[in-house]
Amino acid sequence: MNKKENIGNRYQEETKYCRNNMSGGGLNFEDMPDPIKTYPDAETIPLPPPMRSAGNFIWDIMARRRSRRDFKDESISMQELSQILWATQGATSRRGQFILRTSPSAGALFPIETYVLINRVDDLEKGVYHYSVPDHSLSLLKKGAFGHKIAQAGLQQDMLNFSAIDLIWTAVIQRSKWKYKERAYRYIYMDAGHIGQNAYLASETLGLGCCTVGAFFDDEVNEIVGVDGKDEFAVYMCCIGKIKR
Ligand SMILES: Cc1cc2nc3c(=O)[nH]c(=O)nc-3n(C[C@H](O)[C@H](O)[C@H](O)COP(=O)(O)O)c2cc1C
Repeated sequence: MNKKENIGNRYQEETKYCRNNMSGGGLNFEDMPDPIKTYPDAETIPLPPPMRSAGNFIWDIMARRRSRRDFKDESISMQELSQILWATQGATSRRGQFILRTSPSAGALFPIETYVLINRVDDLEKGVYHYSVPDHSLSLLKKGAFGHKIAQAGLQQDMLNFSAIDLIWTAVIQRSKWKYKERAYRYIYMDAGHIGQNAYLASETLGLGCCTVGAFFDDEVNEIVGVDGKDEFAVYMCCIGKIKR
């Protein structure tokens, strides 16, 4: 077996926790990476407060959840966008310096950042935005229609262009590596998986369609959201929109 074929097995083996290899070393809080990414020079777009009461029974939503790939050429509202972002990464509580959220995260380190590609949202220009967790707002990174480009980057999956929004989740790997070293690569994908499921459940609750996407050209997606692919890189995406019935 060549080196590349074996890399998954080697990674799994070499990042195992075993009773005889636990270092138990303390953490150096002076080296702790910044848990929050900000774009101080970007235009800020406040989001409407998320709803906390209306919604269907969770058991029914779970039973109905499906990956939905056929979208109508219709916009979603700012309220719906707000609800989806809150459901995936919204702040729900503070514990010391940590902002706890709707999705869990290994060690409460929250390595995942959310970028929002807007194709069709009422009262919001098309473009690429970053979701600011602490103040539940968007930072405008670049204006323009990027739906076609993200669909190309997503292995020609046109649903990413026909959707109302695409969420692109990246990992700021050092946030997690600071504590978990190489094992961090296991955890960032688990964190992203939890977020993805919340995107599905929130969309279903709002009567919208959602499909997560793991198949994409990494460098192209990184370029669209403006991350370097090393310190921060795309790990998962999803597209959400009005369902064609
Ligand atoms: C990690 C992951 C990656 C996925 N990537 C894609 C994708 O790139 N394109 C796609 O159409 N569906 C993708 N899906 C959706 C699956 O195809 C879907 O969940 C599966 O077929 C089961 O159908 P259901 O979600 O409707 O129950 C992905 C799902 C997961 C969990």
